[in-house]
Amino acid sequence: MTITFIGHGYVGLVTAAVFADLGNTVYCVGRNPEKINNLKKGLTPFFEPGLEELVKKNLEQKRLIFTLDYQEAIPEADVVFICVGTPSLPSGEADLSAVFKASEEIAKNLKGYTVVACKSTVPVGTNRRVAKILEKGKKKDVKFDIASCPEFLKEGTALHDTQNPDRIVAGADSVKALDVLEELHKPINSIFLRTTIETAEMIKYGANTLLAAKISFANSMSFLCDIVGADIEQVMEGIGLDNRIGKQFLAAGVGYGGSCFPKDVKALVAMTKRYKTPGMLFEAVEEVNQIAHEHFFQKVKKYFHNDLKGKKITLWGLAFKPDTDDMRDAPSLPIIKSLLNEGAKVVAYDPKAVENAKKSLGEKYAIEYTPDAYSACAGTDALLIVTEWNEFKQADLEKVKKQLKKPVIFDGRNIYEAKKVKELGFEYYGTGK
Ligand code: UGA
Repeated sequence: MTITFIGHGYVGLVTAAVFADLGNTVYCVGRNPEKINNLKKGLTPFFEPGLEELVKKNLEQKRLIFTLDYQEAIPEADVVFICVGTPSLPSGEADLSAVFKASEEIAKNLKGYTVVACKSTVPVGTNRRVAKILEKGKKKDVKFDIASCPEFLKEGTALHDTQNPDRIVAGADSVKALDVLEELHKPINSIFLRTTIETAEMIKYGANTLLAAKISFANSMSFLCDIVGADIEQVMEGIGLDNRIGKQFLAAGVGYGGSCFPKDVKALVAMTKRYKTPGMLFEAVEEVNQIAHEHFFQKVKKYFHNDLKGKKITLWGLAFKPDTDDMRDAPSLPIIKSLLNEGAKVVAYDPKAVENAKKSLGEKYAIEYTPDAYSACAGTDALLIVTEWNEFKQADLEKVKKQLKKPVIFDGRNIYEAKKVKELGFEYYGTGK
């Protein structure tokens, strides 16, 4: 088939590369000339394991075409996927302007029957608004169907998730559109769930909010564990071993971040406000997450007798999770801001996210960055672990101890065994332990 992706973020680019690799002819349309030029050379605009290799391979085999031109990419397509960003507006609602702009461009260039499927995370009702834009902007005799095809990939494991999804959800009125989408997904061995458009839109928000709720539940339990002397990891293991609950997404830490959970929970809350339904459960998920960042910071502050002035603090990890350079809504950001606001100095190391961290923090929150994990500990008062990169798990803690002014670790991701670290002579503060 010939498929077009509008957008080259995590969803658009990863899915485009995977479908090209399955033998389809794939166009990927962007609006930024510099990014499209780089993509034509096989250079991806963000770090995702294995992605650059897959893009290069499919560019060489001429199955993957990057372009700025809708006129080149839309007319031949059997399916057009909208994969543009839907960031939060100040009200918490999703900003749909990029979705509607893309729809106008698609409308102008439709030729022959096309399925227009939205992969962007959009509130209920959005796809029907897309249909209206297409209807209004297209040539008179051109036929199309719309579908909602939410994406469930995770950053850091995006290729694997796309090639091996737990399920594919497709919502549409038209059986023909669903048949086209099922045919396209045939080489991917998974469950193909046919729904209505509204149901598919709700599945995406529900899935992300329930996953975020599991994390906020674990974090709420960890606040208590910190005080009563229970061990959060064993507590959640004991809970998660119940098959009805499951073991995943129960790791307590410094709170969830990224480009999805924070914005999608906010958008679901905004939907409950719009339709005046009780949204307190979803609001609590968001509130606990803010408290999780703050709880970690307060633990550090308390250790220094509420006086962080002049203290030098090392942060290991800046990205919102390992194996990505993404800093959007990363928990490291509020933690760094709180430390700086209290007069501390921050020295940070992250294997991939430093450039994006500089942009996110701006000049107002300037911190020092080091090229490796050990030099970030030179002469500092404490080590804070904020992102659980693998290289921290096997770090030489004897070396770390020699570098630090005082051997104290605040482990926001519970990557170390308390007993072992204490035996090495560290003061150790885990999360919920
Ligand atoms: C999330 C969902 O997991 C994907 O299914 C979804 O497709 C995606 O959002 C999206 O809507 O596009 P992602 O944000 O890439 O994926 O990353 P996750 O692995 O879900 O992690 C999100 C945050 O939760 C991270 O900050 C992570 O550290 C945190 N987390 C995760 C925890 O604090 N505890 C856990 O047990 C799991």
